[in-house]
Amino acid sequence: MTIRLLAFCGSARKESCNRLLLAAAVTTARAAGAAVAELDLRSDLLPIYDGDLEAQHGLPAAALELKKLFAGHDGLLIASPEYNGFFSPLLKNALDWVSRPAPNMPSPYAGKAAGLLAASPGALGGIRCLPHLRLLLSNLGVTVSPTQLALGQADHAFAGDGSLADANQQKMLDKVVGDLIRLATAIRA
Ligand SMILES: Cc1cc2nc3c(=O)[nH]c(=O)nc-3n(C[C@H](O)[C@H](O)[C@H](O)COP(=O)(O)O)c2cc1C
Repeated sequence: MTIRLLAFCGSARKESCNRLLLAAAVTTARAAGAAVAELDLRSDLLPIYDGDLEAQHGLPAAALELKKLFAGHDGLLIASPEYNGFFSPLLKNALDWVSRPAPNMPSPYAGKAAGLLAASPGALGGIRCLPHLRLLLSNLGVTVSPTQLALGQADHAFAGDGSLADANQQKMLDKVVGDLIRLATAIRA
C-alpha cells in the first residue's frame, strides 16, 4: 500500500529555509516509499478568505482544486515559518479555504495524518508556531503526528546535497517522516 503525501510550505519566498527543509523531508519520504506531491502555495493563488466573496461567487477555482488535492492524499507534510510566534497567514488562509464546504466534494481533512516542520534562522527554529498549527489541524479532524522538527539556525543547516548537515538533525527529520508514514498507514488500514 503506497502512502500518498501532500507536501507544502507556508512561505512563498524563493530562498525560504522552510522550502529547503520541506525538500529534504520530501527526499526522505520518497526514499521511504511514499508517493509525494509537492504543492506550491503561492501568495497569488487564493484571495484572503472573505465570506462575502464566497457567498457571491462560491469557492474560487483554486480552493476547489486544493480541496480535491487534499482529499486525494493520506497525509500532509507541512513546513511553516514562524511569524511572531505563529504559523504563517499564507498557510492559515489556504487551510481555511480548504475547510469550506462545497457541493459533492468529500471532506478534505477526514482520515488524514499530518507531520509538522518549522525552520528559522533563529535559535528556536520556529518551535513556538507548531502548537498553534497542531491545534488548528486537530480542530479540522486531522490526526497530527506527535513527532515534529523545529530546525534552528536554518540558514546554515543544509549540506550541498540538500540534506541536513548535522547527522542528528537528519535522523530527527527521518523520524518525523517515518512516523508520519506509519500514522497514515495505520489510519488507512
Ligand atoms: C513578521 C515576521 C515575524 C517573525 N517572527 C519570528 C519569530 O517569532 N520567530 C522566529 O524564529 N523567526 C521569526 N521571523 C524570522 C523568520 O523566521 C525568517 O524570516 C524566516 O527566514 C522565514 O521563513 P522562510 O525562510 O521559510 O521564508 C519573523 C519574520 C517576519 C517577517
